Amino acid sequence: MSILRIEGGRPLRGSVHVQGAKNSVLPILAGTFLARGVCVVHNCPRLTDVEYTLSILKHLGCRVGREEDTVTVDASDPVAADVPDNLMRQMRSSVVFLGPILGRMGRAELSYPGGCELGPRPIDLHLSALRAMGADIREEGGRLVCGGRLTGGDVTLSLPSVGATENAMLAAVAAEGITTITNAAREPELVDLQAFLNTLGADVRGAGSSVITIRGGRPLHGGEHTVIADRIVACTYLSAVAAAGGEGEITGVDWRHLSTVTAVLAEAGCGVTSSPDTIAITAPPVLKGVRPIRTAPYPGFPTDAQAVVMAALCKAQGATVFSENMFDSRYRHVDELSRMGADIRVEGRVAVVYGVPRLSGARVCSTDLRGGAALAVAGVGAEGTTLLGELQHVDRGYADLAADLRALGADIRREEREWSGT
Ligand code: UD1
Repeated sequence: MSILRIEGGRPLRGSVHVQGAKNSVLPILAGTFLARGVCVVHNCPRLTDVEYTLSILKHLGCRVGREEDTVTVDASDPVAADVPDNLMRQMRSSVVFLGPILGRMGRAELSYPGGCELGPRPIDLHLSALRAMGADIREEGGRLVCGGRLTGGDVTLSLPSVGATENAMLAAVAAEGITTITNAAREPELVDLQAFLNTLGADVRGAGSSVITIRGGRPLHGGEHTVIADRIVACTYLSAVAAAGGEGEITGVDWRHLSTVTAVLAEAGCGVTSSPDTIAITAPPVLKGVRPIRTAPYPGFPTDAQAVVMAALCKAQGATVFSENMFDSRYRHVDELSRMGADIRVEGRVAVVYGVPRLSGARVCSTDLRGGAALAVAGVGAEGTTLLGELQHVDRGYADLAADLRALGADIRREEREWSGT
């Protein structure tokens, strides 16, 4: 089994280029199913979630190719309208195929998406959005069987779900007429999806704001698109420098997408300078605790950055309060951080991090994607050796975490060895 061996406790110095955004590339690849032509998508990182997405596209009858970070998908001759249960279970974002399959084929059959480590993640908003466009969705033996002719409609989301907004946008592109999505999620990944769909000939406007308008029903052709950089991966690497001290440069990312996180790191005592596609950070040997951090939909503090920033603040002087408002079980990394000497108390949605003078390397397990990355962040700031196992979580979202942290000056490598959990 693969593990990461991290020799921590020394300041970092280096520069790293940020991979393409997982949360952009998955809906964009699902969106290729709507095009009657070849889509070329650049900056697709090598992630297990991307590979599962490509497997779904192949199952649907698409011709799929990959050269380095460029993926081509030709959905000219689809052969299926279902997603097999084993692929649905692999990742939650498989549900984003519902809109494109229904839009393209007039029917779709999916099971409920994969169980997730962040607590219950319902898909009711996805289903009600599609129903508002005329979809007929029935549950049959754990499968969702969908049919009906999609027409433009008014979709009002009770909360700004990222996935439900994407599903609605993708379905609306194929639905005859005008669709308005109100209380839409405003994440940069929605803006990227809009740009991609418009490249194919769609008419989508307003992404990045709370109201998105789609004039649907135009046939989509092939096109070429470059996926935006992964803002959460960038937050991870900035947090690593903050945890270890030293200085680093993160390139290829739009600083505006992570300004709530860089503001926290600056408050903790880091020097952060941002230019159009580079963020430079200098971190003092000891950080300061910061004002309460509350996760919220974009442009608030991202829930996906909560764990990595928490890892950096474990050694800060003073306490920091985190309030996790997006998911129920998103503090699973806390027990593992405690093995390294962190002092964190969790009560419901709130975690209080009492800064300790030092963390010590330990044998720890990834609990989920960002929780695993947080343990690597803690490891580079901890004295001694950290062995991090259960990397399958991390591989869902980081193309090569070890190589990227090495580029920043960390002593970290991937090894094969026996591993039986902690
Ligand atoms: C996306 C991101 C994930 C990020 C999350 C929140 C992808 C592939 N994943 O996940 O990394 O952590 O946004 O920024 O883009 N909800 C419902 N009913 C629904 C859908 C969602 O109640 O039908 C709730 C969820 O349980 C959660 C909240 O809405 O509490 C936000 O979830 P959502 O924005 O949908 O997250 P995802 O799209 O799953």
